[in-house]
Amino acid sequence: MNGKPFYITTPIYYPSDKLHIGHTYCTVATDTMARYKRMQGYDVMFLTGTDEHGQKIEQKAQAAGVTPQQYVDNIVSGIKDLWKLMNISNDRFIRTTDDYHVESIKKIFKKLYDQGDIYKGTYKGKYCTPCESFWTESQLVDGKCPDCGRDVIDAEEEAYFFRLSKYSDRLVKYYEEHPDFLEPASRLNEMINNFIKPGLEDLCVSRTSFDWGIQVDFDPKHVVYVWIDALSNYITALGYGNEKYHDYEKFWPADVHFVGKEIVRFHSIIWPAMLMALDLPLPKKVYGHGWLLLEGGKMSKSKGNVVDPVVLVQRYGVDSLRYFLLREFPFGSDGTFSNEALIARINADLANDLGNLVSRTVAMVEKYFAGALPQEQASDLMDDEIVQMASSLRGRYEAQMEKYAFQNALVETFKLISRANKYIDETAPWVLAKEEANRPRLARVMYNLLESIRISSVLLTPFMPESCAKIQEQIGAAKELCTWESAGEWGLLPAGIAVKRGESLFPRIDAVKELAELEAAKKPAAAPEKAEKPAAKAAKVPEGCVSIDEFAKVEMTVCKVLACENVPKSEKLLKFQLDDGSGAPRQILSGIAKYYKAEELVGKTLVACTNLPPRKMMGQESNGMLLSAEKDEALNLLILDDKIPAGARLC
Ligand code: ME8
Ligand code: MG
Repeated sequence: MNGKPFYITTPIYYPSDKLHIGHTYCTVATDTMARYKRMQGYDVMFLTGTDEHGQKIEQKAQAAGVTPQQYVDNIVSGIKDLWKLMNISNDRFIRTTDDYHVESIKKIFKKLYDQGDIYKGTYKGKYCTPCESFWTESQLVDGKCPDCGRDVIDAEEEAYFFRLSKYSDRLVKYYEEHPDFLEPASRLNEMINNFIKPGLEDLCVSRTSFDWGIQVDFDPKHVVYVWIDALSNYITALGYGNEKYHDYEKFWPADVHFVGKEIVRFHSIIWPAMLMALDLPLPKKVYGHGWLLLEGGKMSKSKGNVVDPVVLVQRYGVDSLRYFLLREFPFGSDGTFSNEALIARINADLANDLGNLVSRTVAMVEKYFAGALPQEQASDLMDDEIVQMASSLRGRYEAQMEKYAFQNALVETFKLISRANKYIDETAPWVLAKEEANRPRLARVMYNLLESIRISSVLLTPFMPESCAKIQEQIGAAKELCTWESAGEWGLLPAGIAVKRGESLFPRIDAVKELAELEAAKKPAAAPEKAEKPAAKAAKVPEGCVSIDEFAKVEMTVCKVLACENVPKSEKLLKFQLDDGSGAPRQILSGIAKYYKAEELVGKTLVACTNLPPRKMMGQESNGMLLSAEKDEALNLLILDDKIPAGARLC
């Protein structure tokens, strides 16, 4: 246990839409690094959160007919659910609407103003509303936003400016003295050539054209530019400028900010310049990871090409998805996401290699030794290679992890897993088992396999925490033999180790069937827009009846339960997150807690009325009603079998 602090962050996400696999990618990478550092004994602070101000949110809320705060509250609760689902172990979650953060931002802005680093002027320029970014004419690409390619608008207004230009030379000098500050190295050249060399202009840091932001105390017409607000989260979350937390001294400067490549500019120029102005140390590193692309473009809700992590987790399990994301794509580069690649990777690495190694080994120990190895064991020269490989794996793995090369760390680990599978073929335990005299040899072969599994499972734990714990249980490895220290040592399992067979960890996926289903899930069985019928004379409907047309207006949709929990302080209400086939989870509250336990409903296929107006219950929004039948003291939800997909309509 070294006890040293290690501070790592994700970007804080915009709660403008629900998050997709691209955001999940960055968060899973950060989580894996945080878990790895904790395993090494560091005192880790892992921060994530949401970046909630700005014009884009204000507009979205308006369109949705709710206040900006209501709008973000709803999405943020979905983001928190997603991180829970992905097994994200963040120590803190900051929202830029949190009071303590707001207080700190006001102080930071005032301090910079008082010392002359922020001054008042007039802004004339190009503004990209979706990106919340100002651009100079020369930065535009074909007259459009260089980040997203969308139209920019002319903006002119009285505004405050941050003296970014003043920090050019200091920034360049800092990069020169700290060549590892920004990685991958190619990103640094991009920053210097594209932004710093052409000359940094002062940055417009306040807006007057909308309200949803942190007010400038001494000039209340202005709200603080979202990036000044957002970047500061990394220190306000530690208590800088507020009394909510007191960890600044311990954790700042951050060890690493993980960010996507399009926001490297903000993190390697504006953020360091702000810190210089505040006279605070700079983060030790900014790592700009690549994008997950889909059919040639970046995923984005507006392009309608997002991949929903919730659906993938539901089908393949959280660890398979976590593994895939970090194994398939080199962290610093772009990668193309596809369902084919996901399924192929799960089948090849997890089902065939790792899953099989564990299940074969445990099954053989059960079969040949009734589950526990005998003390008497016989080594052989042919064991040297696997022993050598396993006992030196931790060093190779660590070298890669320290470079944030998740993919290579996994490749190294899976070399041992493949080697162990090959060792089974070479030693042919089923042949050894035929002769009583071979028992000590057979026992040693099993022992070597169990040790190889133990060491790999420890190193895979930051990537697949739940599955690795199950593996360790199956091979009977005690917790104290599954630490970082013990992953560097061979031969720690006791000779007479006993195994416990468990569930199959990574079932093989039928690729053809799955791909067809995923394809179908992409196109929810939304009722085709019916051509408006001419206002024909409505047939007379007898008293007490509804017409078929009126009945058809009620939209009843098949929904799968993604998550379900009791609503705090309510004896009646259960809160459901449902997959209704639309790609975005639907939240419904239902007063059935007396009849069902929340956990028993997860995964069930239910029916909901999905075109009722939203309503609030115990302060939480409910979008629809689950169908159930009730009489006297009995209540039954309408539960369908699993074959019918989410999004199907009752007809
Ligand atoms: O930029 N592949 O928030 P954001 C990989 N609020 N990463 C992706 C991705 C994809 N397809 N799509 C998005 C913001 N990301 C600011 C950050 S930090 C002080 C403020 C990544 O929700 C993206 O690269 O638009 C970025 O790092 C992160 O998700 C947040 O994006
Ligand atoms: Mg962005």
